[in-house]
Amino acid sequence: MTSPISSERLMQRIVEFAAIGRDPGGGITRPFGSDADFEARTAFHREVIEAGLEYQVDAAGNQWGRMPGHEASAKTIAAGSHLDTVPHGGAYDGAAGVLMSLEVLQSLAARGYRNRHPLAVVAFTGEEPNPFGLSTLGSRLYTGRLGSAQLMTHTSDNGRLLTEALRRVGGDLANCDSLDPDEIGAFIEPHIEQSGRLDAADLPIGVVDRITGIYRDHITLTGEQNHAGTTVLAHRRDALHAFSHAVLALNALLREPWPHWMVGTVGQVHVYPNAVNIVPSQVVFTVEIRSTDVDQLQHAAERYRQRLEQAMTSLSIAVTIRNILNQAPQPLSADLQRILVNAAQSRGVAPPILNSWAGHDATHMARRVPTGMLFIRSLAGKSHCPDEASRAPDLAMGAEILHDALIALDQT
Ligand code: GLV
Ligand code: MN
Ligand code: MN
Ligand code: MN
Repeated sequence: MTSPISSERLMQRIVEFAAIGRDPGGGITRPFGSDADFEARTAFHREVIEAGLEYQVDAAGNQWGRMPGHEASAKTIAAGSHLDTVPHGGAYDGAAGVLMSLEVLQSLAARGYRNRHPLAVVAFTGEEPNPFGLSTLGSRLYTGRLGSAQLMTHTSDNGRLLTEALRRVGGDLANCDSLDPDEIGAFIEPHIEQSGRLDAADLPIGVVDRITGIYRDHITLTGEQNHAGTTVLAHRRDALHAFSHAVLALNALLREPWPHWMVGTVGQVHVYPNAVNIVPSQVVFTVEIRSTDVDQLQHAAERYRQRLEQAMTSLSIAVTIRNILNQAPQPLSADLQRILVNAAQSRGVAPPILNSWAGHDATHMARRVPTGMLFIRSLAGKSHCPDEASRAPDLAMGAEILHDALIALDQT
């Protein structure tokens, strides 16, 4: 079968976006609100126009490239992902899905494809954790999962107003409640797999049936600041020593024989006052637990809190726990899985059906509109790191399958 898309143009764009927010030693840092994020948005705007699509930014700052359809009442069929990155991340998480979707629409437009439904590529605002402490920001605002009223005075960790950051990218927080996902008839998020199942099976493509749940707590341990030389061990209330118990308690909990898939991570830590000759007074950190089973996720989170409190009491350390995310696992549309599997099969690929162990904008879209996800093989399963990589032929195959799936959706 001939390819309906240009693999060269897709790879050229992936390389072009990988240069935006590039860290000196490799890796990409492009969080929502940064200059690099702004630069990527500007580049995407330009590419959307160059592709012959209509450009629009919604109130949440989500960027859309649209191909109007010829049937006035037909709902939009959309595909896309995000352009922001984690700190020191890779070139494919998010950007690959946006640029594959753009490539498909550009190819259709260039061929003069007469679509019934409006077709759209979307780049959602701030999917990754960012200084505002709000991941999947654009998709949560778009689907009404986050209300704007509670965010009007929300600031980043260095005091910047969210309203200002959104205004800079063409959004308008006060108007987010007027966003209406009912305009979308179907959404597909193409994304790199980010784990090693496809690579191990030597398969280029997978289809997702469910996205993991994610639970996150922000925890503060408070002890007592004192002199590192003169304070005998028996008199110390060392917050960093206590923190080591907190990490080991999480690890022990996760290693119990749980019936369903589950992982957990302490990924962010701040120590105060962080000096070589001071017993630390305070440690502030995050705990994240993920599972594809909602009951297990809640149960594990509850058990962790109890164990942490017990351990800290015995060490005379005060604990405060603030939940910052509690997102249930999300099944995806069975119809879209079938359409994606059929599209893959007719291009000679038998895609496995996989859970997503990463979170996505698709989690929130799926609560409001029929949503599907296509996975592209990640080499050695690496992601959220500079070594993250996928091969050009796999990305092209993903774009071809997306192309065929969008046409199937347009014609039904
Ligand atoms: C995605 O970036 C995630 O945190 O799962
Ligand atoms: Mn990510
Ligand atoms: Mn992503
Ligand atoms: Mn993410």
